[in-house]
Amino acid sequence: MIFGATGDLAMRKLLPALYHLATRGALSPAMTIVGVGRRPMSDEAYRDKVQADIAAFAGGDVEPGTWAWLAPRVRFAHATLADSESYASLARRLDEVEGTQAGQVGRLFYLATPPSAMPDIVRHLGEHGLVRETGGAWRRVIVEKPFGYDSESAHALTLLLRAHLAERQIYRIDHYLGKETVQNLMAFRFANGIFEPIWNRRYVDHVQITVAETVGVEGRGGYYDGAGALRDMVQNHLFQLLALTAMEPPISFEADAVRDERVKVLHAVHLCDADEVRRRVVRGQYVEGALDGGAPAIPYRQEADVPVASTTETFVAMKLFVENWRWADVPFYLRSGKRLARRMSEIAVQFKCPPFRLFEDTAVASFEPNVLVIRIQPDEGIALRFQAKVPGAEVTLGGVEMDFAYADHFAAAPATGYESLLYDAMCGDPTLFHRADMVEAGWQVVEPILALLRSDPGALLHAYPAFSCGPEAADTLLTREGRAWRPLARG
Ligand SMILES: NC(=O)c1ccc[n+]([C@@H]2O[C@H](COP(=O)([O-])OP(=O)(O)OC[C@H]3O[C@@H](n4cnc5c(N)ncnc54)[C@H](OP(=O)(O)O)[C@@H]3O)[C@@H](O)[C@H]2O)c1
Repeated sequence: MIFGATGDLAMRKLLPALYHLATRGALSPAMTIVGVGRRPMSDEAYRDKVQADIAAFAGGDVEPGTWAWLAPRVRFAHATLADSESYASLARRLDEVEGTQAGQVGRLFYLATPPSAMPDIVRHLGEHGLVRETGGAWRRVIVEKPFGYDSESAHALTLLLRAHLAERQIYRIDHYLGKETVQNLMAFRFANGIFEPIWNRRYVDHVQITVAETVGVEGRGGYYDGAGALRDMVQNHLFQLLALTAMEPPISFEADAVRDERVKVLHAVHLCDADEVRRRVVRGQYVEGALDGGAPAIPYRQEADVPVASTTETFVAMKLFVENWRWADVPFYLRSGKRLARRMSEIAVQFKCPPFRLFEDTAVASFEPNVLVIRIQPDEGIALRFQAKVPGAEVTLGGVEMDFAYADHFAAAPATGYESLLYDAMCGDPTLFHRADMVEAGWQVVEPILALLRSDPGALLHAYPAFSCGPEAADTLLTREGRAWRPLARG
């Protein structure tokens, strides 16, 4: 049952993802999808809409056989989400759909509504017994981000959810963790023997995690201005990439074993006070700028629904330490922003240079460090950069790459990033979903930044031209330590 079934997320991601799963034969024949919306609509009208959404957003033509299988399984239910009576009618609808199997089949509720609608839905689902697990039938609820606005609101959200649901029923979704490359990070680290021995402070100089977008706020200025890059990207997506990169090997691939290790990483990250925040965090906001001689993008402050004096950041860079035995003193540099020079998400592990300059009497002036780059998007893959001798009589070195691209080895099925997560939720595997303590640990890390911004909303904010690499102050974060961000600009 999808709440917000006529919304952007349902239309562009969820229904295309369910269609992709149907294409692969991954859905149970007994499954029914019930879309819930605020405006009355017949099942037929909703089916037509879903078919059009799939045609527009699933990539490629709608396969007639798959649609013939899926269409009769799609229903619509009208509800006023704040109104208790609506849930009695949803309960009747579900009983009707489940027929003779009522009480024996699993129910997955997807809350694809704005956060403001969530408290009512959760409360009513609880009060009307829709999420009560009886007779062995499971009840699960997928909750969309944002998971709070700061530590306090995140905790309030946890209490709200836990008042009506057990933690094992709550699936806090982060579509970043549905990306194949992100999941492959665990396979890469723990299914290969050669990387783990060097995955520590003895060999790693620093780690860079970048999630860069070329798009601006895309008509969602009202939402974005209340969030900003720190809340929208860093506290959730980038911290999860950090956790997967830095975590200890779990004792098993059981969901909680993996999540225990991920949360430990976040518990080991601290920003002490405002002084430390000022030294280690840079915020940016884009001003006018153009991409490759194209028409200039408007400044953030001129985007629709953004206040003209907004101090919301569209870019953040920060230097963090994971204060544990494995990573002590290894900087983790994180950056994320909108309207940057290139769309690129990657984790780059830069290794220390060799300890001894054996090539002293040759033309080799300096070493380039080895870098292992895990590309999340685009061109998903993994590359290792190392030094090789340039052919010829003189000894000179050149940087070369061993490059694995997913597309070269595995047939990539069309995907929105939600397929594996929806599938996992249906199968009851919460490994890739956030647990309450992970969410709250993420907020704890950024709380000193939020505290500074509460007293000084314009703190740490620098302008950067749209389609650039971000503010210069972000470069300084690394250059003052003799390091540099990996290039973002084209070419
Ligand atoms: N869109 C994305 O790509 C995306 C990505 C990641 C996370 N999310 C998260 O997913 C959730 C939904 O996002 P969205 O972009 O799909 O939002 P949306 O299009 O603004 O709204 C989703 C649905 O919720 C309904 N709705 C709106 N306001 C409501 C209210 N006050 N009470 C009850 N229902 C209401 C809308 O119904 P009507 O159709 O009747 O207006 C719509 O069907 C949000 O929490 C968002 O942060 C979205």
